[in-house]
Amino acid sequence: MYKIGMFDSGIGGLNVLEEVKKLMPYENIIYYQDSSHNPYGEKSDEELWVIVSDIVEYLKKEGVKEVIVACNTATTRCIKRLREEYKDLIFIGTEPAIKVATDNNYKNIILLATPGTINSDRLHELINNNQSDENIYLIECSGLANAIENHDHDEIINLLHNYLDDYKDKNIDSVVLGCTHYGYIKNEIIDILGNIKLIDGNLGVARQAKRMLEENNLLDGTEIGRIDIIEK
Ligand code: DGL
Repeated sequence: MYKIGMFDSGIGGLNVLEEVKKLMPYENIIYYQDSSHNPYGEKSDEELWVIVSDIVEYLKKEGVKEVIVACNTATTRCIKRLREEYKDLIFIGTEPAIKVATDNNYKNIILLATPGTINSDRLHELINNNQSDENIYLIECSGLANAIENHDHDEIINLLHNYLDDYKDKNIDSVVLGCTHYGYIKNEIIDILGNIKLIDGNLGVARQAKRMLEENNLLDGTEIGRIDIIEK
């Protein structure tokens, strides 16, 4: 029986899974790799809800107690409704780590994310809660998660130049990776922007997932857990 369920529109959330495994090696985890519906970031709220709630139903049947939404888009657009509709499950979200960037005194911050995340109310709430005198540049990266999912390196480089070239002279000191897929293109981002700090929220998500299991007295494994990846 699995305790933790995770999902994303493909390989992006595997970056979150790495941190979860390190922190909770004794848990049985099922990861739903929903490549068939990639990109989530370019879907309407209703389309996304149908996809996401189907996955949660599936994970629930597998017996999970906690669902880690290993996707910024699904988190910013659906997690509120998931918490309302599935009160018996614990939901952990993955959100753009704006707070980490501002807490560390970065001043010229780029946020890279999908259109779905950039245009979500939740993102604007996160910015309002954390921004003081920083410049935060929001870049809506249509097509990028899909190019990463398809391992299309030429397209990844073309898109990154389109999105980042205008920022080369803006003293950028940090880039928040606001989509879990972007963890795979760190070197390519540094090649364009140079000496910048890359920030993601993956470790924070894993810590929160562990904390919530502890609080609910659900952390009790003693043998190395099993990890299953369901590829769609
Ligand atoms: N990996 C997802 C995210 O963190 C979504 C990518 C997509 O399917 O658009 O936003």
